[in-house]
Amino acid sequence: MGIFLPGGGFSLIYRGGDKLAAMQIRKLSVKDLDLKDKRVLVRVDFNVSLDEEGKIRDDTRIRAVLPTIKYILEEGASLILLSHLGRPGGKVVEKLRLNPVAHRLEELIGRPVLKMDECVGNRVRQTTRGTKPGDIVLLENTRFHKEESQNNPEFARKLADLADLFVNDAFGAAHRAHASTVGVTRFLPAAAGLLMQRELEMLGELLTNPRIPFVAILGGAKISDKIGILHNFLKRCQDILVGGGMTYTFLKAEGAQVGRSLVEEEKIEEAREILKEASGEGCRIRLPLDHLVAREARDGVGVRLVDRGEIPPDYLGLDIGPRTIELFSGIIREARTIFWNGPLGMFELISFSQGTRAIAELLAESGATVVIGGGETVSAVKKLGIEGKMTHVSTGGGASLSFLQGIELPAVASLMDKK
Ligand code: 3PG
Repeated sequence: MGIFLPGGGFSLIYRGGDKLAAMQIRKLSVKDLDLKDKRVLVRVDFNVSLDEEGKIRDDTRIRAVLPTIKYILEEGASLILLSHLGRPGGKVVEKLRLNPVAHRLEELIGRPVLKMDECVGNRVRQTTRGTKPGDIVLLENTRFHKEESQNNPEFARKLADLADLFVNDAFGAAHRAHASTVGVTRFLPAAAGLLMQRELEMLGELLTNPRIPFVAILGGAKISDKIGILHNFLKRCQDILVGGGMTYTFLKAEGAQVGRSLVEEEKIEEAREILKEASGEGCRIRLPLDHLVAREARDGVGVRLVDRGEIPPDYLGLDIGPRTIELFSGIIREARTIFWNGPLGMFELISFSQGTRAIAELLAESGATVVIGGGETVSAVKKLGIEGKMTHVSTGGGASLSFLQGIELPAVASLMDKK
Protein backbone atom coordinates (compact mmCIF):
# COMPACT_ATOMS: atom_id res chain seq x y z
CA MET A 1 0.00 0.00 0.00
CA GLY A 2 1.33 3.51 -0.69
CA ILE A 3 0.75 6.95 0.73
CA PHE A 4 1.71 10.46 -0.36
CA LEU A 5 3.42 12.32 2.46
CA PRO A 6 2.75 16.03 3.09
CA GLY A 7 6.37 16.80 2.24
CA GLY A 8 5.81 15.49 -1.27
CA GLY A 9 7.48 12.10 -0.90
CA PHE A 10 6.06 8.69 -1.68
CA SER A 11 6.50 6.06 0.93
CA LEU A 12 5.48 2.50 1.70
CA ILE A 13 3.22 1.64 4.61
CA TYR A 14 3.74 -1.64 6.37
CA ARG A 15 0.79 -2.35 8.63
CA GLY A 16 2.54 -3.03 11.87
CA GLY A 17 5.80 -1.34 11.04
CA ASP A 18 8.11 -3.64 12.99
CA LYS A 19 10.07 -4.73 9.88
CA LEU A 20 10.28 -1.08 9.00
CA ALA A 21 11.52 -0.10 12.43
CA ALA A 22 14.20 -2.77 12.37
CA MET A 23 15.31 -1.73 8.89
CA GLN A 24 15.52 1.94 9.78
CA ILE A 25 17.69 1.22 12.79
CA ARG A 26 20.29 -0.54 10.62
CA LYS A 27 21.41 2.69 9.00
CA LEU A 28 25.00 3.92 8.79
CA SER A 29 25.96 6.02 11.82
CA VAL A 30 28.10 9.15 12.01
CA LYS A 31 30.38 6.92 14.12
CA ASP A 32 31.00 4.72 11.06
CA LEU A 33 32.43 7.66 9.08
CA ASP A 34 36.05 8.78 8.85
CA LEU A 35 35.60 12.45 9.70
CA LYS A 36 39.22 13.65 9.97
CA ASP A 37 39.78 16.87 7.99
CA LYS A 38 36.38 16.52 6.31
CA ARG A 39 33.68 19.16 5.81
CA VAL A 40 30.48 17.66 7.15
CA LEU A 41 27.04 18.93 6.14
CA VAL A 42 24.72 18.23 9.06
CA ARG A 43 20.93 18.58 8.70
CA VAL A 44 19.46 19.49 12.07
CA ASP A 45 15.93 20.43 13.10
CA PHE A 46 16.32 23.90 14.59
CA ASN A 47 12.60 24.56 14.03
CA VAL A 48 12.21 26.05 17.50
CA SER A 49 9.31 28.07 18.83
CA LEU A 50 9.99 31.84 18.92
CA ASP A 51 8.10 34.52 20.88
CA GLU A 52 6.79 37.83 19.43
CA GLU A 53 10.22 39.43 19.95
CA GLY A 54 11.95 36.60 18.13
CA LYS A 55 13.40 35.07 21.32
CA ILE A 56 13.65 31.28 21.56
CA ARG A 57 10.95 29.86 23.83
CA ASP A 58 12.36 26.37 24.02
CA ASP A 59 15.88 25.36 23.03
CA THR A 60 15.42 21.58 23.44
CA ARG A 61 15.96 20.89 19.76
CA ILE A 62 19.27 22.79 19.83
CA ARG A 63 20.49 20.99 22.96
CA ALA A 64 19.44 17.65 21.49
CA VAL A 65 21.98 17.80 18.64
CA LEU A 66 24.95 18.95 20.77
CA PRO A 67 26.31 15.37 21.15
CA THR A 68 26.50 14.98 17.36
CA ILE A 69 28.06 18.42 16.89
CA LYS A 70 30.65 17.80 19.59
CA TYR A 71 31.47 14.33 18.26
CA ILE A 72 32.07 15.62 14.72
CA LEU A 73 34.27 18.46 15.93
CA GLU A 74 36.28 16.18 18.23
CA GLU A 75 36.96 13.88 15.29
CA GLY A 76 38.72 16.76 13.52
CA ALA A 77 36.08 17.87 11.00
CA SER A 78 34.42 21.20 10.22
CA LEU A 79 30.66 21.54 10.46
CA ILE A 80 28.18 23.09 8.06
CA LEU A 81 24.75 23.12 9.70
CA LEU A 82 21.50 23.21 7.72
CA SER A 83 17.97 23.68 9.07
CA HIS A 84 14.52 24.98 8.30
CA LEU A 85 12.58 27.29 10.65
CA GLY A 86 8.82 27.68 10.37
CA ARG A 87 7.00 27.67 7.05
CA PRO A 88 8.14 30.74 5.09
CA GLY A 89 6.72 29.27 1.86
CA GLY A 90 9.79 29.57 -0.38
CA LYS A 91 10.59 33.25 0.24
CA VAL A 92 12.67 35.26 2.71
CA VAL A 93 10.73 36.06 5.88
CA GLU A 94 12.91 38.23 8.12
CA LYS A 95 11.54 36.92 11.40
CA LEU A 96 12.33 33.37 10.35
CA ARG A 97 16.06 33.91 9.95
CA LEU A 98 18.20 31.54 12.01
CA ASN A 99 20.13 34.33 13.83
CA PRO A 100 18.64 33.68 17.32
CA VAL A 101 19.46 30.00 16.89
CA ALA A 102 23.10 30.84 16.02
CA HIS A 103 23.41 32.93 19.21
CA ARG A 104 21.91 30.22 21.36
CA LEU A 105 24.11 27.55 19.81
CA GLU A 106 27.22 29.69 20.47
CA GLU A 107 26.21 30.00 24.13
CA LEU A 108 25.56 26.28 24.49
CA ILE A 109 28.66 25.06 22.71
CA GLY A 110 31.01 27.81 23.91
CA ARG A 111 32.60 28.41 20.47
CA PRO A 112 31.94 30.85 17.63
CA VAL A 113 29.27 29.98 15.07
CA LEU A 114 29.55 31.72 11.71
CA LYS A 115 25.98 32.47 10.60
CA MET A 116 25.48 32.97 6.84
CA ASP A 117 22.53 34.91 5.38
CA GLU A 118 22.07 32.35 2.60
CA CYS A 119 22.28 28.58 2.28
CA VAL A 120 23.55 28.44 -1.32
CA GLY A 121 25.48 30.80 -3.64
CA ASN A 122 29.06 32.04 -4.15
CA ARG A 123 29.62 33.51 -0.69
CA VAL A 124 28.43 30.34 0.98
CA ARG A 125 30.58 28.21 -1.30
CA GLN A 126 33.70 30.29 -0.67
CA THR A 127 33.18 30.39 3.08
CA THR A 128 32.51 26.68 3.44
CA ARG A 129 35.49 25.79 1.19
CA GLY A 130 37.70 27.80 3.56
CA THR A 131 36.56 26.09 6.78
CA LYS A 132 39.16 24.38 8.96
CA PRO A 133 38.67 21.55 11.47
CA GLY A 134 36.71 22.88 14.44
CA ASP A 135 34.88 25.61 12.47
CA ILE A 136 31.08 25.81 12.68
CA VAL A 137 29.02 27.46 9.96
CA LEU A 138 25.23 27.78 10.22
CA LEU A 139 23.51 28.34 6.87
CA GLU A 140 20.26 30.31 6.48
CA ASN A 141 16.75 28.79 6.64
CA THR A 142 16.53 26.27 3.80
CA ARG A 143 12.80 26.99 3.32
CA PHE A 144 13.56 30.50 2.01
CA HIS A 145 13.91 28.61 -1.29
CA LYS A 146 10.84 26.93 -2.77
CA GLU A 147 13.17 24.28 -4.23
CA GLU A 148 13.73 22.91 -0.72
CA SER A 149 10.20 21.55 -0.20
CA GLN A 150 10.03 20.48 -3.86
CA ASN A 151 13.10 18.30 -3.30
CA ASN A 152 14.63 19.94 -6.35
CA PRO A 153 17.72 17.94 -7.45
CA GLU A 154 19.67 21.01 -8.62
CA PHE A 155 19.14 22.76 -5.27
CA ALA A 156 20.10 19.56 -3.44
CA ARG A 157 23.28 19.31 -5.50
CA LYS A 158 24.22 22.90 -4.59
CA LEU A 159 23.86 22.04 -0.90
CA ALA A 160 25.82 18.82 -1.30
CA ASP A 161 28.64 20.67 -3.14
CA LEU A 162 29.47 22.46 0.10
CA ALA A 163 30.78 19.36 1.88
CA ASP A 164 32.41 15.91 1.74
CA LEU A 165 29.93 14.00 3.90
CA PHE A 166 26.29 14.32 4.98
CA VAL A 167 24.89 13.53 8.43
CA ASN A 168 21.18 13.75 9.16
CA ASP A 169 20.33 14.51 12.79
CA ALA A 170 16.97 16.15 12.04
CA PHE A 171 14.61 13.46 13.30
CA GLY A 172 11.82 16.06 13.61
CA ALA A 173 11.92 16.63 9.84
CA ALA A 174 12.52 13.00 8.82
CA HIS A 175 8.96 12.61 7.51
CA ARG A 176 9.63 15.36 4.96
CA ALA A 177 11.15 14.37 1.59
CA HIS A 178 12.90 17.69 1.00
CA ALA A 179 16.15 18.67 -0.75
CA SER A 180 18.07 19.07 2.53
CA THR A 181 16.74 15.82 4.04
CA VAL A 182 16.50 13.44 1.06
CA GLY A 183 17.83 15.18 -2.10
CA VAL A 184 21.38 15.67 -0.77
CA THR A 185 21.79 11.95 -0.10
CA ARG A 186 22.02 11.34 -3.85
CA PHE A 187 25.25 13.29 -3.96
CA LEU A 188 27.08 12.57 -0.67
CA PRO A 189 27.79 9.59 1.61
CA ALA A 190 24.94 9.91 4.13
CA ALA A 191 24.75 8.70 7.73
CA ALA A 192 22.49 9.15 10.76
CA GLY A 193 23.49 11.48 13.61
CA LEU A 194 23.41 10.43 17.25
CA LEU A 195 20.01 12.01 17.98
CA MET A 196 18.50 10.38 14.89
CA GLN A 197 19.86 7.01 16.03
CA ARG A 198 18.52 7.39 19.56
CA GLU A 199 15.07 8.40 18.32
CA LEU A 200 14.91 5.42 15.96
CA GLU A 201 16.11 3.06 18.67
CA MET A 202 13.74 4.30 21.38
CA LEU A 203 10.67 4.53 19.14
CA GLY A 204 11.66 1.39 17.24
CA GLU A 205 11.77 -0.59 20.47
CA LEU A 206 8.09 0.22 21.05
CA LEU A 207 7.26 -1.52 17.78
CA THR A 208 9.72 -4.40 17.90
CA ASN A 209 10.48 -5.29 21.48
CA PRO A 210 8.42 -3.56 24.17
CA ARG A 211 8.58 -5.02 27.68
CA ILE A 212 5.04 -5.99 28.62
CA PRO A 213 2.61 -4.90 29.92
CA PHE A 214 2.89 -2.21 27.24
CA VAL A 215 0.45 0.66 27.80
CA ALA A 216 -0.23 3.58 25.45
CA ILE A 217 -1.80 6.79 26.72
CA LEU A 218 -3.38 8.67 23.85
CA GLY A 219 -5.03 12.05 24.17
CA GLY A 220 -5.19 15.34 22.26
CA ALA A 221 -8.05 16.96 20.47
CA LYS A 222 -8.68 14.72 17.49
CA ILE A 223 -9.04 11.01 16.92
CA SER A 224 -8.14 11.55 13.25
CA ASP A 225 -4.52 12.40 14.24
CA LYS A 226 -4.19 9.13 16.16
CA ILE A 227 -6.01 6.60 13.98
CA GLY A 228 -2.80 5.19 12.44
CA ILE A 229 -1.18 4.75 15.85
CA LEU A 230 -4.34 3.23 17.32
CA HIS A 231 -4.47 0.57 14.60
CA ASN A 232 -0.79 -0.20 14.99
CA PHE A 233 -0.73 -0.19 18.79
CA LEU A 234 -3.76 -2.31 19.45
CA LYS A 235 -1.77 -5.29 18.17
CA ARG A 236 1.00 -4.53 20.64
CA CYS A 237 -0.48 -2.93 23.75
CA GLN A 238 -2.31 -4.66 26.56
CA ASP A 239 -4.11 -1.39 27.40
CA ILE A 240 -4.71 1.89 25.57
CA LEU A 241 -5.82 4.69 27.88
CA VAL A 242 -7.82 7.36 26.05
CA GLY A 243 -8.31 10.96 27.19
CA GLY A 244 -8.55 14.45 25.70
CA GLY A 245 -10.94 15.57 23.00
CA MET A 246 -10.74 12.27 21.11
CA THR A 247 -12.61 10.58 23.98
CA TYR A 248 -15.95 11.96 22.85
CA THR A 249 -15.85 10.50 19.34
CA PHE A 250 -15.33 7.08 20.94
CA LEU A 251 -18.10 7.67 23.46
CA LYS A 252 -20.51 8.82 20.77
CA ALA A 253 -19.62 5.64 18.85
CA GLU A 254 -20.79 3.73 21.93
CA GLY A 255 -24.03 5.70 21.98
CA ALA A 256 -23.16 7.76 25.09
CA GLN A 257 -24.41 11.32 25.86
CA VAL A 258 -21.56 13.71 25.07
CA GLY A 259 -23.39 17.06 25.13
CA ARG A 260 -21.53 19.72 23.13
CA SER A 261 -18.14 17.97 23.44
CA LEU A 262 -15.79 17.86 20.48
CA VAL A 263 -16.86 15.03 18.17
CA GLU A 264 -15.52 14.16 14.73
CA GLU A 265 -18.77 12.93 13.20
CA GLU A 266 -17.04 11.48 10.13
CA LYS A 267 -14.80 9.33 12.35
CA ILE A 268 -17.54 7.75 14.50
CA GLU A 269 -17.76 4.65 12.34
CA GLU A 270 -13.98 4.20 12.39
CA ALA A 271 -13.95 4.66 16.18
CA ARG A 272 -16.51 1.85 16.40
CA GLU A 273 -14.34 -0.38 14.23
CA ILE A 274 -11.27 0.35 16.35
CA LEU A 275 -13.16 -0.68 19.50
CA LYS A 276 -14.21 -3.93 17.78
CA GLU A 277 -10.73 -4.62 16.39
CA ALA A 278 -9.20 -4.01 19.84
CA SER A 279 -11.41 -6.59 21.53
CA GLY A 280 -10.44 -9.09 18.80
CA GLU A 281 -6.75 -8.42 19.48
CA GLY A 282 -7.10 -8.69 23.26
CA CYS A 283 -6.27 -5.01 23.78
CA ARG A 284 -8.39 -3.08 26.28
CA ILE A 285 -9.25 0.44 25.14
CA ARG A 286 -10.00 2.27 28.38
CA LEU A 287 -12.30 5.23 27.97
CA PRO A 288 -12.77 7.70 30.85
CA LEU A 289 -15.22 6.73 33.60
CA ASP A 290 -15.95 10.35 34.50
CA HIS A 291 -15.40 13.85 33.11
CA LEU A 292 -14.96 17.45 34.20
CA VAL A 293 -17.47 19.42 32.15
CA ALA A 294 -18.37 23.09 31.72
CA ARG A 295 -20.57 25.27 29.50
CA GLU A 296 -17.48 26.96 28.02
CA ALA A 297 -13.82 26.09 27.56
CA ARG A 298 -12.30 28.80 29.81
CA ASP A 299 -11.06 29.24 33.35
CA GLY A 300 -13.49 30.77 35.83
CA VAL A 301 -16.63 29.03 34.55
CA GLY A 302 -18.66 26.60 36.68
CA VAL A 303 -17.15 23.11 36.47
CA ARG A 304 -19.17 19.92 37.10
CA LEU A 305 -18.08 16.33 37.56
CA VAL A 306 -20.23 13.79 35.70
CA ASP A 307 -20.10 10.07 34.97
CA ARG A 308 -19.40 8.58 31.55
CA GLY A 309 -22.27 9.05 29.18
CA GLU A 310 -23.99 11.67 31.33
CA ILE A 311 -22.71 14.94 29.90
CA PRO A 312 -25.69 17.37 29.91
CA PRO A 313 -26.74 18.72 26.47
CA ASP A 314 -25.33 22.24 26.99
CA TYR A 315 -22.01 21.11 28.54
CA LEU A 316 -18.73 19.96 27.02
CA GLY A 317 -16.17 17.50 28.40
CA LEU A 318 -12.82 19.17 29.14
CA ASP A 319 -10.83 16.84 31.41
CA ILE A 320 -10.84 13.36 32.91
CA GLY A 321 -12.28 13.02 36.42
CA PRO A 322 -10.88 11.44 39.64
CA ARG A 323 -12.29 7.93 39.05
CA THR A 324 -10.60 7.87 35.64
CA ILE A 325 -7.33 9.08 37.16
CA GLU A 326 -7.57 6.22 39.66
CA LEU A 327 -8.28 3.64 36.95
CA PHE A 328 -5.45 4.89 34.72
CA SER A 329 -3.03 5.09 37.68
CA GLY A 330 -3.56 1.43 38.56
CA ILE A 331 -2.79 0.36 34.98
CA ILE A 332 0.24 2.67 34.72
CA ARG A 333 1.70 1.26 37.96
CA GLU A 334 1.68 -2.27 36.48
CA ALA A 335 3.12 -1.26 33.08
CA ARG A 336 6.71 -1.92 32.04
CA THR A 337 6.61 0.12 28.83
CA ILE A 338 4.55 3.29 28.41
CA PHE A 339 4.08 5.54 25.40
CA TRP A 340 2.27 8.83 25.87
CA ASN A 341 1.04 11.22 23.21
CA GLY A 342 -1.53 13.96 23.73
CA PRO A 343 -2.84 15.78 26.82
CA LEU A 344 -5.77 14.17 28.64
CA GLY A 345 -7.73 17.40 29.00
CA MET A 346 -7.53 21.05 28.04
CA PHE A 347 -4.18 21.34 29.81
CA GLU A 348 -3.58 25.01 28.88
CA LEU A 349 -6.50 25.99 31.18
CA ILE A 350 -5.75 25.52 34.91
CA SER A 351 -9.27 24.24 35.60
CA PHE A 352 -8.83 21.36 33.18
CA SER A 353 -5.16 20.46 33.67
CA GLN A 354 -5.56 18.05 36.60
CA GLY A 355 -5.81 14.82 34.61
CA THR A 356 -2.73 15.51 32.50
CA ARG A 357 -0.81 16.69 35.56
CA ALA A 358 -1.70 13.63 37.66
CA ILE A 359 -0.72 11.19 34.92
CA ALA A 360 2.52 13.06 34.12
CA GLU A 361 3.53 13.01 37.79
CA LEU A 362 2.84 9.30 38.00
CA LEU A 363 4.97 8.67 34.92
CA ALA A 364 7.82 10.64 36.50
CA GLU A 365 7.80 8.17 39.43
CA SER A 366 7.38 5.08 37.25
CA GLY A 367 10.10 2.44 36.90
CA ALA A 368 8.83 1.59 33.39
CA THR A 369 10.40 2.66 30.10
CA VAL A 370 8.48 5.88 29.42
CA VAL A 371 8.56 7.41 25.94
CA ILE A 372 6.90 10.74 25.25
CA GLY A 373 6.03 11.71 21.69
CA GLY A 374 4.45 14.81 20.22
CA GLY A 375 4.70 18.56 20.67
CA GLU A 376 1.82 19.25 23.08
CA THR A 377 2.70 16.38 25.41
CA VAL A 378 6.30 17.54 25.51
CA SER A 379 5.13 21.07 26.51
CA ALA A 380 3.01 19.56 29.29
CA VAL A 381 5.93 17.50 30.61
CA LYS A 382 8.25 20.52 30.46
CA LYS A 383 5.77 22.81 32.15
CA LEU A 384 5.75 20.37 35.06
CA GLY A 385 9.57 20.21 35.09
CA ILE A 386 9.66 16.39 34.87
CA GLU A 387 11.17 16.03 31.41
CA GLY A 388 14.41 14.62 32.81
CA LYS A 389 12.53 11.81 34.55
CA MET A 390 11.25 10.26 31.32
CA THR A 391 13.28 7.59 29.50
CA HIS A 392 12.93 9.44 26.20
CA VAL A 393 11.18 12.61 25.07
CA SER A 394 10.99 12.64 21.29
CA THR A 395 12.02 15.81 19.43
CA GLY A 396 9.68 14.89 16.59
CA GLY A 397 5.92 15.48 16.54
CA GLY A 398 4.78 14.51 13.03
CA ALA A 399 7.87 12.35 12.50
CA SER A 400 7.29 10.22 15.59
CA LEU A 401 3.59 9.77 14.77
CA SER A 402 4.47 8.68 11.21
CA PHE A 403 7.13 6.27 12.43
CA LEU A 404 4.90 4.71 15.07
CA GLN A 405 2.07 4.11 12.64
CA GLY A 406 4.47 2.21 10.38
CA ILE A 407 5.09 4.83 7.69
CA GLU A 408 8.58 4.83 6.29
CA LEU A 409 10.46 8.05 7.04
CA PRO A 410 11.89 9.16 3.67
CA ALA A 411 14.87 10.97 5.20
CA VAL A 412 15.87 7.82 7.07
CA ALA A 413 15.23 5.45 4.16
CA SER A 414 17.60 7.50 1.99
CA LEU A 415 20.57 7.15 4.38
CA MET A 416 23.17 4.46 3.63
CA ASP A 417 22.75 1.03 5.20
CA LYS A 418 25.35 -0.36 7.55
CA LYS A 419 27.66 -2.80 5.78
C1 3PG B 1 8.27 19.88 13.25
O1 3PG B 1 8.31 20.88 13.98
O2 3PG B 1 7.42 18.97 13.40
C2 3PG B 1 9.32 19.72 12.21
O3 3PG B 1 10.33 20.67 12.32
C3 3PG B 1 8.72 19.72 10.82
O4 3PG B 1 8.13 20.96 10.56
P1 3PG B 1 7.01 21.08 9.41
O5 3PG B 1 5.78 20.40 9.94
O6 3PG B 1 6.83 22.54 9.17
O7 3PG B 1 7.55 20.35 8.19
